[in-house]
Amino acid sequence: MGKGSGYGKVILFGEHFVVYGLPGIASAVGLTTDATAVKSGKMAVKDERKGTEGYSDAKRAHQLESLERMFGAMGLNEKAFDIWLGGDLPVMSGIGASAASSVAIARAVSEEAGLDYDDDKINEIAYEMEKAFAGNPSGIDNTVATYGGLIWFEKNLAGGQNKIEKIRAPSAVEIVMGNSGVVADTKKMVEGVAERRKQHPEKYDAIFKKAEALAFKAREALEKGDIGAVGALMDENHKLLQEIEVSCKELDELVEIAKANGALGAKVTGGGGGGCMVALTPGKELQERVAQAMEGRGFKVLRTRIGV
Ligand code: PMV
Repeated sequence: MGKGSGYGKVILFGEHFVVYGLPGIASAVGLTTDATAVKSGKMAVKDERKGTEGYSDAKRAHQLESLERMFGAMGLNEKAFDIWLGGDLPVMSGIGASAASSVAIARAVSEEAGLDYDDDKINEIAYEMEKAFAGNPSGIDNTVATYGGLIWFEKNLAGGQNKIEKIRAPSAVEIVMGNSGVVADTKKMVEGVAERRKQHPEKYDAIFKKAEALAFKAREALEKGDIGAVGALMDENHKLLQEIEVSCKELDELVEIAKANGALGAKVTGGGGGGCMVALTPGKELQERVAQAMEGRGFKVLRTRIGV
């Protein structure tokens, strides 16, 4: 039996802008999707991840395409495995569930097929698999799902190696991820940004410059462990995401609840238009206060940590 895991992630800075080669910062959260793979007479996937009702059905066609892409990238002719998916990472938009499952499955199948790929190869294969879910993704999700930790990411638009650097933060920090309850379509959100950028090039150029400067400042603050500064920069990043029109009513409401209850920073995370937001809430007490305030208003939340 082959086994593998992939980390869930949260994008702290630069979602959408990373698609254009600007820097993004993302962190693994302390939750994983786990997979096993056993050679078998036919291909079967048993999905026991948390929160999969509805989601799995909606994503089944993507899941199958992603497996086809994986077999292609691995050069495997034998495509019959019993795959099991589980782990403590709940399946929801914005947490990198598809990337985590791609990495977990690629690792499990690589082991079972005796390929013994290293992390770089797994990351490459998971990127191919992600295309089934997200069209032409930047690659930040599968990178964090593979390597874990806090990651600085710059997509190489010419098709060469992406810049991937580990950021060393002094300690892990509590966050709350608030789920808007609105199902998001990242591909559509990315296309919408491209469309609006074409229509308003000057406005978008100015926003993109701010987003780039912000990522550099955020990296410095993270490395110093200056959590207050990180929070303030997250708030600024949220404003930029509002300006490129990827927030929505529910996400803005969650951001307001987080800030009103003491979060140091709060922003949309991931593709937006629904899905999740992230609030920076150092310490169990603040995390609990913010989480409960969101729950009190009917939202589902995830309490976890970055920099793990
Ligand atoms: O919606 P998510 O969590 O998969 O994040 C998407 C991030 C984008 O920057 C919007 C797209 C990408 O491919 O990086």
